[in-house]
Amino acid sequence: MERVTRLARAGAVRLAAALAVMWLGLVAIPRADAADAVLVGAGDIAGCQSSADAATAALVAATGGTVITLGDNAYESGTPKQFAACYGPTWGRVKGRTRPAVGNHDYFTAGAVPYFNYFGAAAGPPGKGWYSYDAGAWHVVVLNTNCYRVSCKKGSEQERWLRADLAGHSAQCTLAYWHQARFVSDDNHGNNPEVGPFWDALYQYGADLVLSAHAHIYERFAPQTPWGKADPAYGIREIVVGTGGESHYGIAAPQPNSQVRNATTFGVVKLTLHSGSYDWRFLPANGQGFTDSGAGSCHGRPPASTTTTTTMNSSTTSTTRSPTTTTKRATTTSTARAPGATTTTRSKPGPPGSGP
Ligand SMILES: [Fe+2]
Repeated sequence: MERVTRLARAGAVRLAAALAVMWLGLVAIPRADAADAVLVGAGDIAGCQSSADAATAALVAATGGTVITLGDNAYESGTPKQFAACYGPTWGRVKGRTRPAVGNHDYFTAGAVPYFNYFGAAAGPPGKGWYSYDAGAWHVVVLNTNCYRVSCKKGSEQERWLRADLAGHSAQCTLAYWHQARFVSDDNHGNNPEVGPFWDALYQYGADLVLSAHAHIYERFAPQTPWGKADPAYGIREIVVGTGGESHYGIAAPQPNSQVRNATTFGVVKLTLHSGSYDWRFLPANGQGFTDSGAGSCHGRPPASTTTTTTMNSSTTSTTRSPTTTTKRATTTSTARAPGATTTTRSKPGPPGSGP
Protein backbone atom coordinates (compact mmCIF):
# COMPACT_ATOMS: atom_id res chain seq x y z
CA MET A 1 0.00 0.00 0.00
CA GLU A 2 2.80 2.31 0.94
CA ARG A 3 4.54 1.51 -2.36
CA VAL A 4 1.38 2.38 -4.33
CA THR A 5 1.07 5.67 -2.51
CA ARG A 6 4.72 6.43 -3.20
CA LEU A 7 4.32 5.69 -6.92
CA ALA A 8 1.18 7.80 -7.13
CA ARG A 9 2.95 10.68 -5.42
CA ALA A 10 5.92 10.40 -7.80
CA GLY A 11 3.59 10.37 -10.80
CA ALA A 12 1.80 13.46 -9.56
CA VAL A 13 5.12 15.25 -9.09
CA ARG A 14 6.21 14.36 -12.64
CA LEU A 15 2.90 15.57 -14.06
CA ALA A 16 3.09 18.84 -12.12
CA ALA A 17 6.67 19.37 -13.30
CA ALA A 18 5.72 18.72 -16.92
CA LEU A 19 2.79 21.13 -16.72
CA ALA A 20 5.01 23.77 -15.14
CA VAL A 21 7.62 23.42 -17.88
CA MET A 22 4.94 23.70 -20.56
CA TRP A 23 3.40 26.72 -18.83
CA LEU A 24 6.77 28.40 -18.72
CA GLY A 25 7.21 27.80 -22.42
CA LEU A 26 10.36 25.79 -21.93
CA VAL A 27 9.20 23.02 -24.25
CA ALA A 28 8.25 23.66 -27.85
CA ILE A 29 5.06 21.71 -28.35
CA PRO A 30 5.08 20.32 -31.90
CA ARG A 31 2.16 21.44 -33.94
CA ALA A 32 -0.04 18.46 -34.70
CA ASP A 33 -3.13 18.50 -36.81
CA ALA A 34 -4.96 15.47 -38.13
CA ALA A 35 -5.28 17.21 -41.49
CA ASP A 36 -1.54 17.89 -41.84
CA ALA A 37 0.23 16.52 -44.90
CA VAL A 38 3.96 16.41 -45.59
CA LEU A 39 5.49 16.85 -49.05
CA VAL A 40 9.24 16.57 -49.50
CA GLY A 41 11.38 16.80 -52.63
CA ALA A 42 13.50 18.71 -55.14
CA GLY A 43 14.30 18.82 -58.83
CA ASP A 44 17.39 18.23 -60.98
CA ILE A 45 18.12 14.99 -59.25
CA ALA A 46 19.82 11.80 -60.33
CA GLY A 47 22.99 11.43 -62.36
CA CYS A 48 25.32 8.49 -62.22
CA GLN A 49 28.24 10.94 -62.23
CA SER A 50 27.10 12.53 -58.96
CA SER A 51 26.95 11.22 -55.42
CA ALA A 52 24.84 14.09 -54.12
CA ASP A 53 21.67 12.41 -55.37
CA ALA A 54 22.27 9.60 -52.88
CA ALA A 55 22.57 12.17 -50.09
CA THR A 56 19.31 13.87 -51.03
CA ALA A 57 17.65 10.46 -51.46
CA ALA A 58 18.56 9.70 -47.86
CA LEU A 59 16.68 12.84 -46.82
CA VAL A 60 13.45 11.97 -48.62
CA ALA A 61 13.71 8.35 -47.45
CA ALA A 62 13.96 9.53 -43.85
CA THR A 63 11.01 11.91 -44.20
CA GLY A 64 7.46 10.62 -44.21
CA GLY A 65 4.75 11.83 -46.53
CA THR A 66 4.62 12.31 -50.28
CA VAL A 67 7.86 12.64 -52.25
CA ILE A 68 7.67 15.18 -55.07
CA THR A 69 10.10 15.62 -57.92
CA LEU A 70 10.41 18.92 -59.78
CA GLY A 71 11.69 17.49 -63.06
CA ASP A 72 14.98 16.46 -64.63
CA ASN A 73 14.72 13.23 -62.72
CA ALA A 74 17.35 11.14 -64.53
CA TYR A 75 20.36 12.67 -66.23
CA GLU A 76 21.56 13.12 -68.84
CA SER A 77 18.73 12.19 -71.13
CA GLY A 78 16.03 10.35 -69.18
CA THR A 79 16.76 7.03 -70.85
CA PRO A 80 15.39 3.75 -69.47
CA LYS A 81 18.94 2.83 -68.42
CA GLN A 82 19.41 6.15 -66.59
CA PHE A 83 16.13 5.73 -64.72
CA ALA A 84 17.11 2.18 -63.78
CA ALA A 85 20.79 2.75 -62.94
CA CYS A 86 20.87 6.36 -61.68
CA TYR A 87 17.41 7.24 -60.31
CA GLY A 88 16.41 3.73 -59.23
CA PRO A 89 19.05 3.10 -56.54
CA THR A 90 18.65 6.58 -55.04
CA TRP A 91 15.25 8.29 -55.22
CA GLY A 92 13.73 5.16 -56.70
CA ARG A 93 13.74 3.70 -53.21
CA VAL A 94 10.69 5.86 -52.42
CA LYS A 95 9.04 5.52 -55.82
CA GLY A 96 5.94 4.05 -54.20
CA ARG A 97 5.09 7.39 -52.55
CA THR A 98 6.40 9.72 -55.26
CA ARG A 99 4.37 12.15 -57.41
CA PRO A 100 6.75 13.45 -60.10
CA ALA A 101 6.95 16.35 -62.52
CA VAL A 102 8.64 16.07 -65.90
CA GLY A 103 11.70 18.11 -66.91
CA ASN A 104 13.46 18.99 -70.13
CA HIS A 105 16.17 16.39 -69.60
CA ASP A 106 13.45 13.76 -69.31
CA TYR A 107 12.35 14.93 -72.77
CA PHE A 108 15.85 14.39 -74.18
CA THR A 109 14.48 10.94 -74.92
CA ALA A 110 11.60 11.31 -77.37
CA GLY A 111 8.27 12.01 -75.75
CA ALA A 112 9.78 11.49 -72.28
CA VAL A 113 8.49 7.96 -72.77
CA PRO A 114 10.88 6.36 -70.23
CA TYR A 115 9.73 8.93 -67.61
CA PHE A 116 6.08 8.05 -68.13
CA ASN A 117 6.86 4.33 -68.21
CA TYR A 118 8.96 4.48 -65.05
CA PHE A 119 6.47 6.39 -62.89
CA GLY A 120 3.31 4.95 -64.45
CA ALA A 121 -0.01 6.17 -63.08
CA ALA A 122 1.75 8.29 -60.44
CA ALA A 123 2.74 10.71 -63.24
CA GLY A 124 -0.82 11.25 -64.40
CA PRO A 125 -2.20 10.42 -67.84
CA PRO A 126 0.56 9.06 -70.12
CA GLY A 127 2.13 11.67 -72.35
CA LYS A 128 0.47 14.66 -70.64
CA GLY A 129 2.61 15.44 -67.60
CA TRP A 130 -0.17 17.37 -65.84
CA TYR A 131 -2.45 16.06 -63.12
CA SER A 132 -3.67 16.93 -59.63
CA TYR A 133 -4.29 15.33 -56.26
CA ASP A 134 -5.22 16.25 -52.72
CA ALA A 135 -2.84 16.22 -49.75
CA GLY A 136 -4.55 16.74 -46.42
CA ALA A 137 -6.61 19.90 -46.73
CA TRP A 138 -4.62 21.07 -49.76
CA HIS A 139 -5.19 20.74 -53.49
CA VAL A 140 -1.97 20.00 -55.37
CA VAL A 141 -1.50 20.63 -59.10
CA VAL A 142 1.39 19.27 -61.17
CA LEU A 143 2.07 20.89 -64.55
CA ASN A 144 4.22 20.24 -67.60
CA THR A 145 6.18 23.40 -68.40
CA ASN A 146 8.27 21.96 -71.19
CA CYS A 147 6.49 24.46 -73.35
CA TYR A 148 8.39 23.53 -76.49
CA ARG A 149 6.84 20.05 -76.17
CA VAL A 150 3.37 20.88 -74.84
CA SER A 151 1.77 24.29 -75.19
CA CYS A 152 1.62 26.49 -72.10
CA LYS A 153 -0.31 29.27 -73.81
CA LYS A 154 -3.63 30.66 -72.71
CA GLY A 155 -6.34 28.55 -74.32
CA SER A 156 -4.07 25.52 -74.72
CA GLU A 157 -5.28 22.09 -73.66
CA GLN A 158 -3.20 22.20 -70.49
CA GLU A 159 -4.17 25.75 -69.53
CA ARG A 160 -7.86 24.96 -70.02
CA TRP A 161 -7.45 21.80 -67.95
CA LEU A 162 -5.76 23.82 -65.21
CA ARG A 163 -8.60 26.34 -65.02
CA ALA A 164 -11.21 23.58 -64.96
CA ASP A 165 -9.29 21.72 -62.27
CA LEU A 166 -9.00 24.81 -60.08
CA ALA A 167 -12.67 25.66 -60.61
CA GLY A 168 -13.60 22.13 -59.58
CA HIS A 169 -11.70 22.13 -56.31
CA SER A 170 -12.73 24.41 -53.52
CA ALA A 171 -9.77 23.76 -51.19
CA GLN A 172 -8.74 26.84 -49.28
CA CYS A 173 -5.07 26.08 -49.90
CA THR A 174 -3.49 25.27 -53.26
CA LEU A 175 0.04 24.25 -54.22
CA ALA A 176 1.39 23.80 -57.74
CA TYR A 177 4.72 22.45 -58.89
CA TRP A 178 6.56 21.96 -62.16
CA HIS A 179 10.05 22.12 -63.64
CA GLN A 180 10.85 25.50 -65.24
CA ALA A 181 10.69 28.35 -62.69
CA ARG A 182 8.75 31.49 -63.64
CA PHE A 183 11.03 33.70 -61.51
CA VAL A 184 14.62 32.80 -60.64
CA SER A 185 17.97 34.56 -60.14
CA ASP A 186 20.35 31.86 -61.41
CA ASP A 187 23.02 32.68 -63.98
CA ASN A 188 22.08 30.00 -66.48
CA HIS A 189 18.35 29.90 -67.28
CA GLY A 190 16.74 32.92 -65.59
CA ASN A 191 13.03 33.74 -65.70
CA ASN A 192 10.70 31.66 -67.81
CA PRO A 193 7.80 33.88 -68.93
CA GLU A 194 6.27 31.07 -70.98
CA VAL A 195 4.60 29.74 -67.84
CA GLY A 196 2.88 33.10 -67.26
CA PRO A 197 -0.58 31.80 -68.26
CA PHE A 198 -0.32 29.17 -65.51
CA TRP A 199 0.59 31.81 -62.94
CA ASP A 200 -2.37 33.90 -64.17
CA ALA A 201 -4.82 31.06 -63.56
CA LEU A 202 -3.30 30.07 -60.22
CA TYR A 203 -3.31 33.67 -58.97
CA GLN A 204 -6.90 34.24 -60.03
CA TYR A 205 -7.98 31.10 -58.17
CA GLY A 206 -6.04 32.07 -55.04
CA ALA A 207 -3.15 29.58 -55.12
CA ASP A 208 -0.63 29.97 -52.32
CA LEU A 209 2.58 28.17 -53.27
CA VAL A 210 4.51 27.23 -56.41
CA LEU A 211 7.59 25.00 -56.40
CA SER A 212 9.92 24.79 -59.39
CA ALA A 213 13.48 23.88 -60.34
CA HIS A 214 15.46 23.80 -63.65
CA ALA A 215 17.83 26.38 -62.16
CA HIS A 216 20.21 24.36 -59.98
CA ILE A 217 19.93 26.60 -56.95
CA TYR A 218 17.64 27.20 -53.97
CA GLU A 219 15.69 30.45 -53.98
CA ARG A 220 12.66 31.67 -52.07
CA PHE A 221 10.48 34.60 -53.08
CA ALA A 222 7.99 36.73 -51.21
CA PRO A 223 4.39 36.31 -52.35
CA GLN A 224 3.94 38.12 -55.67
CA THR A 225 1.62 38.56 -58.61
CA PRO A 226 2.13 36.84 -61.97
CA TRP A 227 3.77 40.02 -63.21
CA GLY A 228 6.29 40.15 -60.39
CA LYS A 229 4.75 42.72 -58.07
CA ALA A 230 4.91 42.08 -54.33
CA ASP A 231 1.49 41.10 -53.02
CA PRO A 232 1.52 40.02 -49.37
CA ALA A 233 -2.25 39.57 -49.32
CA TYR A 234 -2.94 37.42 -52.39
CA GLY A 235 0.45 36.73 -53.97
CA ILE A 236 1.91 33.32 -54.74
CA ARG A 237 5.09 32.34 -52.92
CA GLU A 238 7.57 30.62 -55.26
CA ILE A 239 10.36 28.39 -53.98
CA VAL A 240 12.97 27.12 -56.45
CA VAL A 241 14.50 23.82 -55.35
CA GLY A 242 16.88 22.72 -58.10
CA THR A 243 19.18 21.17 -55.51
CA GLY A 244 18.31 17.49 -55.88
CA GLY A 245 21.89 16.43 -56.54
CA GLU A 246 22.91 16.88 -60.16
CA SER A 247 25.00 20.08 -59.97
CA HIS A 248 24.92 23.72 -58.96
CA TYR A 249 24.64 26.88 -61.04
CA GLY A 250 25.70 30.33 -59.98
CA ILE A 251 23.54 33.29 -58.96
CA ALA A 252 23.09 36.45 -61.00
CA ALA A 253 21.49 39.75 -59.93
CA PRO A 254 18.57 38.96 -57.61
CA GLN A 255 15.12 39.18 -59.14
CA PRO A 256 12.56 41.45 -57.44
CA ASN A 257 10.97 39.90 -54.34
CA SER A 258 13.75 37.32 -53.99
CA GLN A 259 14.30 36.76 -50.29
CA VAL A 260 16.82 33.92 -49.94
CA ARG A 261 19.29 32.34 -52.36
CA ASN A 262 21.87 29.58 -52.08
CA ALA A 263 24.00 27.91 -54.71
CA THR A 264 26.29 25.65 -52.72
CA THR A 265 24.15 23.21 -50.72
CA PHE A 266 22.32 20.20 -52.10
CA GLY A 267 19.12 19.35 -50.31
CA VAL A 268 15.34 19.07 -50.42
CA VAL A 269 12.44 21.15 -49.22
CA LYS A 270 9.99 19.77 -46.71
CA LEU A 271 6.51 21.27 -46.67
CA THR A 272 4.10 20.67 -43.82
CA LEU A 273 0.66 21.54 -45.08
CA HIS A 274 -1.78 22.49 -42.36
CA SER A 275 -5.42 23.33 -42.73
CA GLY A 276 -5.16 27.02 -43.61
CA SER A 277 -1.37 27.43 -43.44
CA TYR A 278 1.99 25.87 -44.28
CA ASP A 279 5.56 25.54 -43.04
CA TRP A 280 8.62 25.07 -45.23
CA ARG A 281 12.11 23.89 -44.32
CA PHE A 282 15.13 23.32 -46.55
CA LEU A 283 16.89 20.14 -45.41
CA PRO A 284 20.60 20.19 -46.35
CA ALA A 285 22.24 17.00 -47.59
CA ASN A 286 24.38 15.29 -44.98
CA GLY A 287 22.88 17.64 -42.39
CA GLN A 288 25.35 20.39 -43.23
CA GLY A 289 25.34 23.81 -44.82
CA PHE A 290 22.59 26.22 -45.64
CA THR A 291 19.06 25.90 -44.33
CA ASP A 292 15.90 27.98 -44.56
CA SER A 293 12.54 27.74 -42.87
CA GLY A 294 9.39 29.71 -42.28
CA ALA A 295 5.62 29.68 -42.40
CA GLY A 296 2.76 31.26 -44.26
CA SER A 297 -1.01 31.40 -44.28
CA CYS A 298 -3.36 30.48 -47.09
CA HIS A 299 -5.44 33.23 -48.64
CA GLY A 300 -8.57 33.35 -50.68
CA ARG A 301 -8.98 34.54 -54.23
CA PRO A 302 -8.05 38.16 -54.88
CA PRO A 303 -10.72 40.76 -55.59
CA ALA A 304 -11.73 40.79 -59.23
CA SER A 305 -10.46 44.33 -59.68
CA THR A 306 -6.86 43.33 -58.88
CA THR A 307 -6.41 40.44 -61.28
CA THR A 308 -4.74 40.87 -64.60
CA THR A 309 -3.98 38.41 -67.33
CA THR A 310 -0.44 38.59 -68.66
CA THR A 311 0.49 37.52 -72.14
CA MET A 312 4.22 37.25 -71.59
CA ASN A 313 5.30 36.10 -75.01
CA SER A 314 3.81 39.11 -76.72
CA SER A 315 4.61 41.50 -73.85
CA THR A 316 1.04 42.69 -73.59
CA THR A 317 -1.36 42.77 -70.68
CA SER A 318 -5.10 42.91 -70.44
CA THR A 319 -7.48 43.15 -67.55
CA THR A 320 -9.87 40.33 -66.86
CA ARG A 321 -12.26 39.19 -64.15
CA SER A 322 -11.28 36.61 -61.58
CA PRO A 323 -13.68 33.69 -61.05
CA THR A 324 -14.86 34.69 -57.59
CA THR A 325 -13.90 36.83 -54.65
CA THR A 326 -13.37 35.51 -51.15
CA THR A 327 -12.18 36.84 -47.83
CA LYS A 328 -8.67 38.27 -47.57
CA ARG A 329 -6.30 36.41 -45.25
CA ALA A 330 -3.00 37.73 -44.03
CA THR A 331 0.24 35.96 -44.87
CA THR A 332 2.99 35.68 -42.30
CA THR A 333 6.53 34.49 -42.75
CA SER A 334 9.51 33.78 -40.59
CA THR A 335 12.94 32.79 -41.77
CA ALA A 336 15.87 30.98 -40.29
CA ARG A 337 18.88 31.62 -42.43
CA ALA A 338 22.37 30.21 -42.20
CA PRO A 339 25.48 32.33 -42.68
CA GLY A 340 26.42 32.61 -46.32
CA ALA A 341 22.88 32.02 -47.46
CA THR A 342 23.40 34.26 -50.44
CA THR A 343 26.26 33.31 -52.69
CA THR A 344 27.40 33.50 -56.25
CA THR A 345 29.65 30.46 -56.10
CA ARG A 346 29.41 28.17 -59.06
CA SER A 347 30.69 24.66 -58.40
CA LYS A 348 30.00 23.07 -61.75
CA PRO A 349 28.89 24.31 -65.16
CA GLY A 350 25.32 23.67 -66.15
CA PRO A 351 24.64 20.74 -68.42
CA PRO A 352 24.80 21.50 -72.10
CA GLY A 353 21.51 21.87 -73.82
CA SER A 354 19.61 22.16 -70.58
CA GLY A 355 17.50 24.97 -71.92
CA PRO A 356 14.63 24.48 -74.29
FE1 LIG B 1 15.96 21.46 -66.51
